Amino acid sequence: MSIEQTFGIIKPNAVQDGNIGNILSAIEKAGFTLRGMRMARLTPELCRGFYAEHVHKGFYPELEAFMTEGPVVLLCLEGENAILRWRELMGATDPAKAAEGTLRKLYGQNMGRNATHGSDSPDSAAREVSYFFSAFDRI
Ligand code: TYD
Ligand code: MG
Repeated sequence: MSIEQTFGIIKPNAVQDGNIGNILSAIEKAGFTLRGMRMARLTPELCRGFYAEHVHKGFYPELEAFMTEGPVVLLCLEGENAILRWRELMGATDPAKAAEGTLRKLYGQNMGRNATHGSDSPDSAAREVSYFFSAFDRI
């Protein structure tokens, strides 16, 4: 166990549905420390760089259209085992398969519009945190 930082996004559907507060509340109740938080509107270029591993996949055009359709909230979360614990709090990628009480089960609509993003490994966490946050706007 170690103190880790991870990266999260409150995706456009959750912002549109008025669930920013509910998701931040769940994050605080789970004991994460917020190290960075900012609203943004992704451009296609930013989205392609962020989802570099998925750009050539069949679902990517739909993913890009969704992620750029409205504002998002960018998060840097810190805590013990934060990378795995944030993935657990979010639940499975497909909300229909996510466990009861997880954020994707509660606030996701379908596989694409699944409410939240979370880094899946120490390497992706480091890349994703620094993709959106400079040392300057992390505390
Ligand atoms: P992925 O990294 O596999 O999932 P996760 O967000 O759980 O790490 O995929 C990134 C996003 O792409 C996922 O949150 C939703 C979308 N997506 C689809 O729309 N269809 C798919 O078949 C997959 C695998 C992902
Ligand atoms: Mg992923």
